[in-house]
Amino acid sequence: MPNESIITVANLKKHYGDIKAVDDLSFDVARGQIFSCLGPNGAGKTTTVEMMEGLRTPTSGSIEIFGVDVTQDYASIRHRVGVLPQDFIPFERLKAPEAIEYFGGLYSREMSTRDIDRLLETVGLEHRKGIIAKKLSGGEKKKLGIALALVGQPELLFLDEPTTGLDAQARRNLWGLLEDLRNEGTTILLTTHYLDEAEKLSDDVLIMDEGKEVARGSPEDLIGRHCGGRSILLHEYGEDSTEKLEAMGLAAERVRNDVKITVGEGVSVRDVLRRLDSGGIRYKDVTTAEPTLEDAFISLVGGTIVSGELRK
Ligand SMILES: Nc1ncnc2c1ncn2[C@@H]1O[C@H](COP(=O)(O)OP(=O)(O)OP(=O)(O)O)[C@@H](O)[C@H]1O
Ligand SMILES: [Mg+2]
Repeated sequence: MPNESIITVANLKKHYGDIKAVDDLSFDVARGQIFSCLGPNGAGKTTTVEMMEGLRTPTSGSIEIFGVDVTQDYASIRHRVGVLPQDFIPFERLKAPEAIEYFGGLYSREMSTRDIDRLLETVGLEHRKGIIAKKLSGGEKKKLGIALALVGQPELLFLDEPTTGLDAQARRNLWGLLEDLRNEGTTILLTTHYLDEAEKLSDDVLIMDEGKEVARGSPEDLIGRHCGGRSILLHEYGEDSTEKLEAMGLAAERVRNDVKITVGEGVSVRDVLRRLDSGGIRYKDVTTAEPTLEDAFISLVGGTIVSGELRK
């Protein structure tokens, strides 16, 4: 059944004294999709996810997963769900195969040596089989956490910042893995600060801030609704201010050393470049760019992106 909701969250709140970590959030997650929950630090993502995982009790509101009220009976769905917590710490004294075997037991799954090897290969940890988890690098520990989340062959996977700390290759490998899992029917709820990753992977996105929904939709929807359209970047623009450009009726802003001009609807890049030439505007080089989820995010939430991550 397409678009069948497997998670339904209604009027969810989690307050810690005066702190409204989650403040009246309602959304649903469709089966077989990658659903990303985005937002700046402290937005309430982990709190929301951990309530869905039965780890924190809501102050009020409801969460149904597979039609079950998780605040009442999480135990009955636990075996269908895989979890990677944001602050995952492995059992220090176990080697990866032993940890996988142990988790297999929790999910009543007999793990053969072949199953274990395959899982370790999937996350790129096969060459680290022989050492205890304590001695793994930060990124390797994360990979072990991802492997453990997959042990139960879950229908629903919660991954709270799975790529934080992974190197570029490992991150791309994980994207491939998540797409494969989604294509096989697994539903994935992801949190990430990497907006390129969210744009590439997500079918559906919830942007939140201060415990509340800020926007919701597919990456394409959000970009279409909240970005000004295509832009032109003038590199090494000759003047300090963008006043001259604005006087020409162009929507211009400084972005580091460049100047970004948003190309309005019904206007071509060529039109804008002609206007710049005839206005005697000097610059060294020019590139064009399509708007991204990052642009939508910044226009909705504010802040800046440093090394691909949001800083508010
Ligand atoms: N146990 C707690 N007691 C008090 N305040 C808490 C508790 N857990 C979370 N908070 C507060 O709730 C807010 C949301 O925290 P949460 O961890 O859900 O944010 P987040 O969106 O996951 O952030 P990050 O991107 O940094 O992981 C923060 O202001 C945090 O300080
Ligand atoms: Mg978090």
